[in-house]
Amino acid sequence: MNIIFLGPPGAGKGTQAQRICAALNIPQISTGDILRRAMKEGTPTGMKAKSYIDAGQLVPDEVIIDIVKDRLQMDDCKAGYILDGFPRTVPQAEALEQFAKIDSVIELAVEDEKLIKRISGRRVCTKCGATYHISLLGDKTTCDNCGETLIQRNDDKAETVLNRLTVYHSQTAPLVAFYESKGLLKKVDGDGDMDAIFGKIMEALGQA
Ligand code: AP5
Ligand code: MG
Repeated sequence: MNIIFLGPPGAGKGTQAQRICAALNIPQISTGDILRRAMKEGTPTGMKAKSYIDAGQLVPDEVIIDIVKDRLQMDDCKAGYILDGFPRTVPQAEALEQFAKIDSVIELAVEDEKLIKRISGRRVCTKCGATYHISLLGDKTTCDNCGETLIQRNDDKAETVLNRLTVYHSQTAPLVAFYESKGLLKKVDGDGDMDAIFGKIMEALGQA
């Protein structure tokens, strides 16, 4: 099954994509993770993306579309995948239609005030991408999966988060209507217990 996770920053796309991918045995394709890895490795794509990401702006469509197109050709995508953070603009969604057939679009909906709280308390593993929240971490500073030190993302600082939310509402939210008109959209309330949200997504995907 080829799935898109749509939703504002902090909605839980990464958190739930990891769980659903594990349950369905398909890869999570997070364009944010791909770009952060490229920045860490100092590749030309990473260097190009850095100024946009640090400012909370989207990287140009032509940069990201080719990355996703190449990624979806890989063998592990044959049985399906979750796109987490792509597409983010109507031109990206139109380009995706040229090289992928999407079965379901899950929109994770959460109010802006709650998103800001979630993002400001997020800690991530730079090695495996696992995501945590300080409210559940206690005094733990390393990743449960791989033992790497957890950090705060550079673009999770307060002023950048507000930009990211503005960008979501102006450039990405129109995709809700785009996919609704194609009969693919399933809206899931992203507020509440993480296990319950996982269950609702599985149900929306017909996998419960
Ligand atoms: P990206 O990495 O995709 O960031 P984002 O969309 O802003 O989303 P986040 O990763 O911030 O949130 P999430 O929904 O994954 O939430 P999470 O599960 O971590 O993109 C970063 C940047 O890269 C962009 O700004 C852009 O510059 C660039 N980029 C990426 N893709 C692009 C594209 N296609 N085109 C152009 N540019 C692109 O959860 C957040 C926190 O909440 C965590 O701490 C988590 O533990 C907690 N949490 C999760 N669920 C719950 C719950 N139910 N209750 C309480 N807390 C919860
Ligand atoms: Mg994410």
